[in-house]
Amino acid sequence: MAKPPLRSAKSYGKHDKDGFIHRSWIKATGLPDHVFDGRPIIGIANTWSELVTCQIGLRDLADYVKRGVWEAGGVPIEFPAMSLPETQMRPTAMLFRNLLAMEVEESIRANPIDGVVLMGACDKTTPGLLMGAASVDLPAIFVSGGPMLNGKFEGRDIGSGTDVWRFSEAVRAGEMSLDEFMGAESGMSRSAGSCNTMGTASTMSSLTEALGISLPMNAALPAVDSRRKVLAHMSGNRIVQLVKDDVKPSDIMTREAFENAILMHAAIGGSTNAVVHLLALAGRLGVPLTLRDFDEIARDAPLLVNLMPSGKYLMEDFCYAGGAPAVAKELGPLYRRDAVTVSGRTQGEIADAAKVWNRDVIGSLEAPVGPSSGVWVLKGNLCPQGAILKPSAATPSLLTHRGKAVVFEDIEDYHARIDHPDLEVDETSILVLKGCGPKGYPGMPEVGNMGLPPKLLAKGVTDMVRISDARMSGTAYGTVILHVAPEAEAGGPLALVRNGDEIAFDGPNRSLELLVDADELARRRAAWEAARQPSKYVRGWYRLYIDTVLQADTGVDLDFLVGKSPADVTRESH
Ligand code: FES
Repeated sequence: MAKPPLRSAKSYGKHDKDGFIHRSWIKATGLPDHVFDGRPIIGIANTWSELVTCQIGLRDLADYVKRGVWEAGGVPIEFPAMSLPETQMRPTAMLFRNLLAMEVEESIRANPIDGVVLMGACDKTTPGLLMGAASVDLPAIFVSGGPMLNGKFEGRDIGSGTDVWRFSEAVRAGEMSLDEFMGAESGMSRSAGSCNTMGTASTMSSLTEALGISLPMNAALPAVDSRRKVLAHMSGNRIVQLVKDDVKPSDIMTREAFENAILMHAAIGGSTNAVVHLLALAGRLGVPLTLRDFDEIARDAPLLVNLMPSGKYLMEDFCYAGGAPAVAKELGPLYRRDAVTVSGRTQGEIADAAKVWNRDVIGSLEAPVGPSSGVWVLKGNLCPQGAILKPSAATPSLLTHRGKAVVFEDIEDYHARIDHPDLEVDETSILVLKGCGPKGYPGMPEVGNMGLPPKLLAKGVTDMVRISDARMSGTAYGTVILHVAPEAEAGGPLALVRNGDEIAFDGPNRSLELLVDADELARRRAAWEAARQPSKYVRGWYRLYIDTVLQADTGVDLDFLVGKSPADVTRESH
């Protein structure tokens, strides 16, 4: 059966006024007549910007994608997408993930392109780009910017984020001078690329491989490694073929693919942020996925990768050890081998071709780096819709704990009181932070790994149970219970916790209980409702976000963005 004409033919294939308008203004970019002969038009959605080093290499890398597109008989056309620099944006880059997704979705849909190469690097760019592309469902492939080189300080490797938290606690405990702290700053981020730990950026790029939406080794090849240029070139090749074969994101990112992503996430000791991103992406595609799946699917998957924050190595080491394909190989019978990928090969074929080159960095099912990893999904009267914890980043002795709450009503309250010598807290206390969920902050920032009180740090305390409706950086560690849903601002029970309340956390049984009787909680709820103030955010994106954002247990998408809409637009612009 003859294939239908490409989508771009509706704009570039017509010999009338509309065709004239579409072609004339794009030809002015330097495109000759003959490229409008029906060959695929490939959009390159590029989050390049100078706002952060993560995306700084994407402008050059796009040139290699273009070479690959031309070589395969397509026409590459690059366009910008919001850059979302994690370390620069206030109040948090997460507030804008859905805005990027919306921008990319409509850019793809509105323009005459047949397929798209998604180029991102920093934490929220990967899910934002994928979510947008999923909602249009035209052929797509992901090309990451790659991680930066290992950080160096005083003769040793240091990791993005992870060592910032460590050094900052050391300064607060009086164990590191401010001069030394400032000295580490220049050595931590010393090349183009995303964070060099297994933080959110590296987690999400590893998951692009597990989802099958990028070529193998997309995650680990350093940003400055010449082989990343080759990967970009080959991705340009592949997207043209994907258009010709009409292979859409929904054909690739199936339930099986998400199961592989959850297994990969556990094996790499991935960022807790991946939970909300995968849930949101699944929601766009209509793939059934629940918070509970993260705990159940990965229950037998041990920690296989020895990278910070769960271990000691960095992304450069991960690359030389074999990267995500080698992890897939080691996951062996757990991995869904038949899942298809944009490479044209199945996950099984990719895994079979991989090899582990350094057993210190990538372990095996027989000799893992750590026990069953992934995330624990908690339930209880303090989190009726769930909460999560990353056991591989926690202190084992705190995974079952009962203590009295020390409550901070919001982040300002926390900053105002945490350093105070009179703060009533000891190492058995549980720090509770409210007002940091999707609606409350707004944007659900990475503040859940709140620093410990200096007076306890000075006593040598290195970890405490912490509970919040926030997220934490993928580079962070500690016994940190996150993503409590519903959040305090949405009226979740977290809003009702008071200083001195007892909280019981039982990790192995996945429970989190506030030990306050129901009558007292009902009284507190009535008082909380009566004291509510109108939001100070009355306009713009903040307003739209607060009014429509969903809770952490379903991925923090906007309610009206869940799902997809047809790629075709029937009406002309003139
Ligand atoms: Fe961009 Fe870490 S700040 S990846």
